[in-house]
Amino acid sequence: MNLLEKFKIENRVAIVTGGGQGIGKGIASIFAEAGACVLISDKREDTVLAAAQELCDQGGNVLATVTDVRDSRQVAEMVKTALKSFGKIDILVNNAAGNFKTSFLDLSENGWDAVVRATLKSVFLCSSAVSKIMVGQKSGNIINVSSMDAFRGSASAAAYGASKAGVVSLTKTLALELSPYNIRVNSIAPGHIDTPGTSQWRPSEVEEQLKGCIPLGRLGQADDIATVALFLASDASSYMTGETILVDGGLLLTRP
Ligand SMILES: NC(=O)c1ccc[n+]([C@@H]2O[C@H](COP(=O)([O-])OP(=O)(O)OC[C@H]3O[C@@H](n4cnc5c(N)ncnc54)[C@H](O)[C@@H]3O)[C@@H](O)[C@H]2O)c1
Repeated sequence: MNLLEKFKIENRVAIVTGGGQGIGKGIASIFAEAGACVLISDKREDTVLAAAQELCDQGGNVLATVTDVRDSRQVAEMVKTALKSFGKIDILVNNAAGNFKTSFLDLSENGWDAVVRATLKSVFLCSSAVSKIMVGQKSGNIINVSSMDAFRGSASAAAYGASKAGVVSLTKTLALELSPYNIRVNSIAPGHIDTPGTSQWRPSEVEEQLKGCIPLGRLGQADDIATVALFLASDASSYMTGETILVDGGLLLTRP
């Protein structure tokens, strides 16, 4: 067998949550380009419809749903739509998350709950709904988007960092429990990636400072994460499960 065949995901069916912009859109785009059928979901109707249209115009087989991953009923509808339209679900990318910056001393109980619900519970809800389908299929692939903040102190984002560390833990447990059903579960931990969601935290002077701290000398782009997601989604990574791949331009190497 030509080993390069293992990188193909043609005709596989993928759901990408939070796919209206940023990293999720980048992942949906590379999957569509690789010939997968992609359902992009997002809580924002305007961006998800525009993203799906753009990818369809480029020849992709792409569908959009407006889905808030914090809501189990909306998640169930998303799964139903994927099955009705494409007949199966091979790949789930849990990309959507929510965060806001506040010091730990000012973090309220409601604030904590809101971030954990959007960033960690949402991964549970989507994985739970989709893994039941994958168990029936006796195959599947779940890719979670964590963060380098899972592995370091997360300044002014205690609930986010804890949630992303929770995503790493959930990745390992799901990998263990779902392996008998031929379902692999891995995650990606991005460093500083230039996306619409994060540009608001980074005025240009902060960006220059950040670049100076990153060994590879630049912020990441959505494509830097999308190519790793493609690897994890394909059979090229068929002996990997429970793993988290750090994609941070070497930033965490600089911290003792
Ligand atoms: N950009 C970075 O530097 C960075 C670093 C580490 C981890 N991440 C992670 O990567 C993922 C994507 O981040 P991004 O930078 O592309 O963000 P972004 O804000 O640019 O895009 C996120 C998308 O998710 C959608 N979304 C948010 N909450 C949702 C919900 N409850 N239901 C459905 N959709 C929802 C938003 O509408 C948006 O379209 C997130 O999990 C984030 O935590 C990003």
